Amino acid sequence: MNETKTFHIITFGCQMNERDSETMAGMLEEKGYVRNDDPKTSDVILINTCSVRENADKKFFGTLGLIKKYRENRPGTVVGVCGCMMQQQHIIDTIRAKYNWVDLVFGTMNIHRLPELLDNLTNERKKQREIWDSHRGIVEGLPADRTDAFKAYVNIMYGCNNFCTYCIVPYTRGRERSRAPRDILREVKSLVRSGTKEITLLGQNVNSYRGTDDTPGCTESGLSVSFPELIYELQDVEGLERIRFMTSHPKDLSPALIQAYRDCPKLMPHIHLPVQSGNTEVLRRMNRHYTREDYLALIGRLREAVPGIAVTTDIIVGFPGETEAQFGDTLSLVETVRYDSAFTFLYSVRTGTPAAEWKDQIPEEVKHERFNRLVDVTNRIAAEKNAALVGRTLPILCEGESKSDPGLYTGRTPGHKLVNFTASGPVAAGETVSVRVTASNTFSLLGEAAIG
Ligand code: SAH
Ligand code: SF4
Ligand code: F3S
Repeated sequence: MNETKTFHIITFGCQMNERDSETMAGMLEEKGYVRNDDPKTSDVILINTCSVRENADKKFFGTLGLIKKYRENRPGTVVGVCGCMMQQQHIIDTIRAKYNWVDLVFGTMNIHRLPELLDNLTNERKKQREIWDSHRGIVEGLPADRTDAFKAYVNIMYGCNNFCTYCIVPYTRGRERSRAPRDILREVKSLVRSGTKEITLLGQNVNSYRGTDDTPGCTESGLSVSFPELIYELQDVEGLERIRFMTSHPKDLSPALIQAYRDCPKLMPHIHLPVQSGNTEVLRRMNRHYTREDYLALIGRLREAVPGIAVTTDIIVGFPGETEAQFGDTLSLVETVRYDSAFTFLYSVRTGTPAAEWKDQIPEEVKHERFNRLVDVTNRIAAEKNAALVGRTLPILCEGESKSDPGLYTGRTPGHKLVNFTASGPVAAGETVSVRVTASNTFSLLGEAAIG
């Protein structure tokens, strides 16, 4: 019997994990596996985990319980777990103790070893675990099965050196490593040849990107390329239409990047600039290396250079020791900046991070009460900012028909706002059309394409 084997990947977490899952899918397809939307009938099930907040951990263990049942019905199924949770010893210990049936455990730095691990498993029935720190470099040239045809995530760096006191990421993703500009350009050009119009450059802190090529003179600036320099190079890639990036840390945002917004029309007028708190003392305890005033000044400079730039952010509520007055500073900062949208999070204790050890944790009910007040303000402002776009005509990169409403097309504005729109004729996915915004709500816009 030579039946085709199938795989199913469940992905939690951020764009980094989504991108890693695309690589794993690409590697499995190279080995002859075929994607299967139904985990119950898949030969290989992988769970790519996130650990940024406790909820993410909980979701993983819930899913693992379900997968166990599928595996009992289909005993040959291979179950592998990977991603950020697998970079933590206490999680590995739990899996060993309570989920010993899991076949493969591998970390964020071992994605490239998946084919080898699967071979070992089929040839020798060798279960493998705890191979979670063996590789710290960058592996180039891995295949990828991309989720989207017209937009793509492109890693420019891995890891994080910032050690914000609440955050697990530096422990799960290791130290900062930048990809060579040549490798990034090669990837982007190949994507564009196969139809990609928009790329999002990924890194935990893209502003500290420092790429080096081993061939001297292959970039204009010589051997070392900064993040803004990389954007100028990408601006010149013919056929590429839109450049986005995430995430940039306020402490490292350079005047050169602000200038790049002015000079590079492909760099979309949007910045995701996590503030975390509006209070300088809380920011100090978070190890963020900027003050409230620094942050506000930065927003001022961005808006001066790029009028109308969309600004989005991440905010943590209930960080240890946060007082009512300090939380009030976050509310007032939000009112001052007027974010286009904000991801708001309840502070979540992460084992192994400094803040997890602090005694002045905020009671859950206080956190929730503050969280609700903050969300009321961020949602109100987001709705107001969307309403201000009604009547405007904007270029929308069409992503196809809306999944929830097949009569409508869907796409994004340059400022990254979601627009659902009607059109008098067909609009191809990947095409940019002028859309007049006709109505708005908190999280999206409605519009009509002006075609024909
Ligand atoms: N590198 C990015 C953020 C990656 S994590 C940056 O620095 O901007 C995404 C967001 O999750 C963070 O911006 C933060 O707001 C939130 N986050 C991280 N750790 C958290 C924790 N322990 N509790 C609550 N939110 C957290
Ligand atoms: Fe986490 Fe801070 Fe690094 Fe972002 S910059 S990943 S919040 S440690
Ligand atoms: Fe989660 Fe890891 Fe991303 S912890 S947010 S998947 S870097």
